[in-house]
Amino acid sequence: MVRAALRSRSNEGAGAAGVPSSLAGPAQVGEPLKLPPAVALPRSLQILRFSKRQIEFVFRARRELGEVFQMRAGIVGGTVVSCHPDHARSLFTAEPELVPSLTAESPVRPIVGPNSVLTANGAQHLRQRRLLLPAFHGEAIDRYTQTIEEVTEREIDRWHIGRPFALAPRMQAITLEVIMSAIFGVDGRSAPGSPEQHLRSTIKYLTAASTSVLAKVGEIVNMGRAEPVGPVRTGVRQLDAAVYPIIAARRRASDLDERDDILSLLLRARGEEGELLSDCELRDELITLVLAGFETTANSLAWTWERLLRNPDAHERLLDAVRGGREAEEQVEAASVEGMRCRPVVPIIGRRVTVPWRLGPYVLPAGSAVSISILLLHHREDLYPEPSAYRPERWLGRKPGTYEWIPFGGGTRRCLGAQLAMAEQRIVLAAMARRLELQAERPEPEHALHRNVTMIPAHGTRVVLRARCV
Ligand code: HEM
Repeated sequence: MVRAALRSRSNEGAGAAGVPSSLAGPAQVGEPLKLPPAVALPRSLQILRFSKRQIEFVFRARRELGEVFQMRAGIVGGTVVSCHPDHARSLFTAEPELVPSLTAESPVRPIVGPNSVLTANGAQHLRQRRLLLPAFHGEAIDRYTQTIEEVTEREIDRWHIGRPFALAPRMQAITLEVIMSAIFGVDGRSAPGSPEQHLRSTIKYLTAASTSVLAKVGEIVNMGRAEPVGPVRTGVRQLDAAVYPIIAARRRASDLDERDDILSLLLRARGEEGELLSDCELRDELITLVLAGFETTANSLAWTWERLLRNPDAHERLLDAVRGGREAEEQVEAASVEGMRCRPVVPIIGRRVTVPWRLGPYVLPAGSAVSISILLLHHREDLYPEPSAYRPERWLGRKPGTYEWIPFGGGTRRCLGAQLAMAEQRIVLAAMARRLELQAERPEPEHALHRNVTMIPAHGTRVVLRARCV
């Protein structure tokens, strides 16, 4: 077994024995265990605080306990949390069997099912990933560009001037349309009562319902289970009732070979032995893509606007650039990248190490859950001076570092939809900046809520539209 000895840019947090804080990877045989300090609150209180005030919760733990700590705020049996880029690198670059993903144990598992690329591990994960990759490469993304532009313009035209509203649901309307078009090759005009319309409304219902108290209970009850229970079961049944008829109809479609939507691509795809995907596998994959793809991108856009509208200089520079100024593309990209740094919509990701693992001065036993707090990593002072400030200009002429800007995770489990999500954010952000005069409804920042695996603005980024250009 190769031991990953990683050197970092600083020795911040070097342990008493002089172990560099950057050293991370499988521990050497016989190394004594040493656990990091733990958040000293009952589990129920940790869960409550993490879901209601996530930013404050993890920042406090980091301040009081250091860059590696233990918490019991969501994952069965608790998790060790780190925010060191070299610790992230050790997990992202390790052999997959040493670091299976914690999504297999998360509350999304009963919804997306056991065959989903998001929750599968080992050989099955690699197989599913290989099958899906072609749908997300550059050429495929170019095909979606026109749809994104059209859907965005249609949506913006509907907004009322002077009436406050939450931006997140409007962003969801755009990203749901985009993902439905990319996956099923259908547009918003599909017939009322069609399976596609049914699927759309079920997904909207599930998303809205997942912020309720009942859903929080369901999330906790479903944790660690393969089969859904409680309110989640009803939602999953409705999803199945919508998806299976779509798969069956597409299998019979006479133009299947000519279609370039993701469902048709997957229906034609063959595994290494020449086998086709079963209906069950297709169902899990399709639901995964819809759920992973639309809420994340929508809330990421909502967060970027939440930040922009509270930073008038950055907002002004973006509007100037897209309305004929210089460097429009660069400014739009920078506004988005900085939005995702400040408010990563997936704030934490986890693995379960199958061998003892070193994280700086600590050595964890095999079987430990290890999570990387993307949120805390993105707020390291040594990587980002004045980390709490929203400053898109940090990114002008600079590319994000592989393990220093990780809103899409990294390594063999890096987000499959990252290119699509970036394209969507660029197009929607630019169109909104070009055509709209937006204002925050209230000046104070929005808190973050935890929904399933995402961190969302508590009020959905409330705004007022002051004016719209044609
Ligand atoms: C701003 C938007 C998005 C963010 C912030 C985001 C974030 C992430 C992150 C952090 C992971 C890694 C999880 C881990 O390592 O445990 C991930 C995985 C994944 N994402 Fe995204 N995502 C976004 C949009 C999308 C879109 C648009 C799609 C597809 C339509 C998508 C599909 C997936 C899939 C399939 C995986 C699983 C990859 C694997 O395990 O091999 N995501 N995403």
